[in-house]
Amino acid sequence: MNRARAIVIALVTVFLGHDLLLPPKVRANSEVVETGRLLAILLDAGRVTIGANQSLINDPERGDKNFPPEVFEKQLIAKFKERANVDLVNLKTEKVPELAKKLLPALVDAEKQVVTDYQIVINKQGVGFKGFIPATFGTQAAAKFRAKTGVYLKQTMNPPRNPKNTPDEFEARVLKAFADPSYPRQGEKIVSDTVDGGKAIRVMLPLFYLKGCLPCHGEPKGEKDISGYMKEGAKEGDLGGAISVKIQLK
Ligand code: HEC
Repeated sequence: MNRARAIVIALVTVFLGHDLLLPPKVRANSEVVETGRLLAILLDAGRVTIGANQSLINDPERGDKNFPPEVFEKQLIAKFKERANVDLVNLKTEKVPELAKKLLPALVDAEKQVVTDYQIVINKQGVGFKGFIPATFGTQAAAKFRAKTGVYLKQTMNPPRNPKNTPDEFEARVLKAFADPSYPRQGEKIVSDTVDGGKAIRVMLPLFYLKGCLPCHGEPKGEKDISGYMKEGAKEGDLGGAISVKIQLK
């Protein structure tokens, strides 16, 4: 092989590795997809953080739970770093899309605001189950984030417990794919698509049931869980739902 050609091939390989040979539009779209993926993980990290504190929150003996928004935020940031390998404390210098640098802090704020709003409920003495669970948290955090940024963010499942979480056509189709046993249970593999004639990007992150979900979503099917909803009879690893994001392209 002649030398010049070898150099060209080497350069192409390097540039491809950095996406630089892709047309600008494709590159821009992949940054929006990545932003959607990070937002979905951040919303679920908040849900998981509330879940990890569930027995503290439900403790009827204790008044002040010492679970203010600052404590929640610390745990949220640690969870997100573990899952997304992005440090929200040093977001400015992290290798994430500019759009994510704008939107991730807005979602952290929305999540903290929900924990702030629920302080009186959380710190109530003499009451065990207070109705403050990951799903309630997730619905409210997503609503606050949507109101503030205009970015569509939602938890969904088919069929949903809460009719407000009913999937639209796209979400129903992707949930069906997620539920297929051949869909990977590990690795937080998302599905994304360009929709509305190229005007928007959709991203969905599947949520699979863990042991901790089963007291409410597990067996026996039809029996009431602690929140008063009927259990679904699900098993560990079954599809529990998804986080759905839709971002308009400029
Ligand atoms: C304390 C009981 C409880 C636990 C534990 C629990 N859930 Fe739920 N989940 C609920 C309730 C109640 C709702 C409906 C809340 C509402 O009214 O919006 C819900 C709603 C959801 C939704 C939104 C879609 C829908 O059906 O409305 C998803 C997704 C979900 N749960 C997944 C999970 C996963 C995954 C876990 C474990 C990581 C989990 N849940 C743990 C009680 C629970």
